[in-house]
Amino acid sequence: MDKLTQKEVFKDLNPEKIDFYLLNKVDSTNTFAKEMSLKKDYLVVISEEQTAGRGRQGKDWYSPNAGNIYMSIRLKNNNPAPLSLIVGLLISEAMDSVSGRKINAGLKWPNDLLIDNKKICGILIESEISGDNNDFIIGIGINYSLPQKESWWGDIGQLADILPREKLINSILKKITFYAENGYQNWKFAWEKRCIHMGKEVKAISNNEKNYELGKFNGINEEGKMLLQTKNELKIISSGECSIKGIY
Ligand code: BTN
Repeated sequence: MDKLTQKEVFKDLNPEKIDFYLLNKVDSTNTFAKEMSLKKDYLVVISEEQTAGRGRQGKDWYSPNAGNIYMSIRLKNNNPAPLSLIVGLLISEAMDSVSGRKINAGLKWPNDLLIDNKKICGILIESEISGDNNDFIIGIGINYSLPQKESWWGDIGQLADILPREKLINSILKKITFYAENGYQNWKFAWEKRCIHMGKEVKAISNNEKNYELGKFNGINEEGKMLLQTKNELKIISSGECSIKGIY
């Protein structure tokens, strides 16, 4: 496995706008980015390994030194579209543009990326508020190789030739910074097109995992909330996870 190099990862990105940290080992790139202050437009932290990687809903994110991507981007965001959904969409698009193929990594609400029905990427969005200052921290984990795996975890090791780590990181950074500065016009349409469970029966699970609703996934609204057609009504689900039978 080749180690990441600053030259390739940050190629054609403006160092006047971005503070870069390329680390070998850190507890969590999100925690690191939360503890730093934003002196430029963006702060980017990438590490080869995390000793306390964090996932959504208080879960751990397994982060061995195995050639995976562990990256956090701290920034301000004034776009109305929901960052948490946009980032998944941009990563799926980055995979297509780097490889020059329709990889079509599927989106599972709110922001998992799947290939062959296995999760290959997770996204954790956090915010850091102090006074009038509201910064977001986008945490991205993309797996190329995992020595240990749950049945529903996948990786993109087989695509490494057409999706080299450095090029994928570089493309994701370009897409996220472009989005922060220009927005994304038809994001909802683009998100739904890549979603793997449009019109399908899903289980919407609330944050505490105790309550759930069953229904048909009818897409998302402008805020990125789930529209769930239950037996009796159309419900708007703002947070939590969704589970699809036979996938996870
Ligand atoms: C999920 O649960 O699906 C979200 C996983 C997010 C993992 C990434 S890896 C880089 C960043 N640092 C962390 O501690 N977590 C995120």
